[in-house]
Amino acid sequence: MTFLFNSDAQRGAVFREAFARELPHLPFAIGPATVDPDGVRYIISWTVTETLERYRNLEVLFSVGAGIDQFPLNAIPPEVKVVRMVENGIIRMMQEYVTLAVLALHRNLPAYLDLQRQREWRALAQKQAADRRVGLLGLGVLGRAVLESLKPFGFRLSGWSRSDKTIEGVATYSGQAGLSRMLAETDILICLLPLTKATQGILNHELFARLPKGAALVHAGRGGQLDHLALLAALDAGQLAGAVIDVTEPEPLPADHAFWGHPKVMLTPHVASATQADTAARAVIDNIKRYEAGLDLIGLVDRTRGY
Ligand code: NAP
Ligand code: GLV
Repeated sequence: MTFLFNSDAQRGAVFREAFARELPHLPFAIGPATVDPDGVRYIISWTVTETLERYRNLEVLFSVGAGIDQFPLNAIPPEVKVVRMVENGIIRMMQEYVTLAVLALHRNLPAYLDLQRQREWRALAQKQAADRRVGLLGLGVLGRAVLESLKPFGFRLSGWSRSDKTIEGVATYSGQAGLSRMLAETDILICLLPLTKATQGILNHELFARLPKGAALVHAGRGGQLDHLALLAALDAGQLAGAVIDVTEPEPLPADHAFWGHPKVMLTPHVASATQADTAARAVIDNIKRYEAGLDLIGLVDRTRGY
């Protein structure tokens, strides 16, 4: 039974070496052209464009990324387990990015960059971290890790998820009423939600209006969650003071899009985090060992929830 690696060659080389060392019983193939489909038990891929029907013995489809919205879930045979990427490299990079973005907004960096362009030497009013309320949409693997990175700065932290949670030092919320309560007390809102039917377009006019005037946004979830026109309107009306945007729909963002030159927008090209080959290979190998020992897969997707 074969493990089929269907992603970039650089990561493939790292995976191949780690698999040969750790799972020598499992044949490893790079690219679908090189394998007998009937022998394939595991696939790792960013998405699937070909039909999976021909892999009649496929048991587990691993995503190269933490998000799985790029998989056409309805087209994947129901008996195939879909697993998102949970690995330390992605987690660490997301901690760096969101901390960078929150500190940039907290310390008025977009406004200072604007003043620099105007050659104006002027100090702006500065809040202390203990007076800055940071709210997180999504308390999953990445969201919870980000909260841990933000704790040492002393921000007032809160978070929202589908199910109830208890996290030390964090005010937690769930449900629509909980979302309203959190938004009303959030100065910097971070989105780390998966893209599902329920979260599509969630960052919209109505949500921005529920934030205190002058709040800011960090968006590192998925592009489909953000209504661009609503964000531009909120920024231009002063309802939002700034935004750090890593994901957009479409990607890449067209060259004439208003985000590129907007003084209140800091834009990055979907680089907040990325799967790191060495730690990801370790995570997938450990997961296969768990699976073959009859244990639950880490990161198993619940198809009915869509994440
Ligand atoms: P995860 O562990 O599955 O966590 C998802 C969190 O979102 C959970 O807390 C979940 O609530 C919550 N959630 C989902 N649907 C919700 C809803 N309708 N209402 C309220 N809360 C909801 O995912 P993760 O590993 O943290 O990754 C999160 C996302 O980050 C990925 O799906 C991907 O889109 C994005 N990402 C972006 C980049 C980048 O470079 N920009 C990189 C990696 C990942 P429960 O806890 O109650 O289930
Ligand atoms: C990147 O966006 C990922 O989902 O890993």
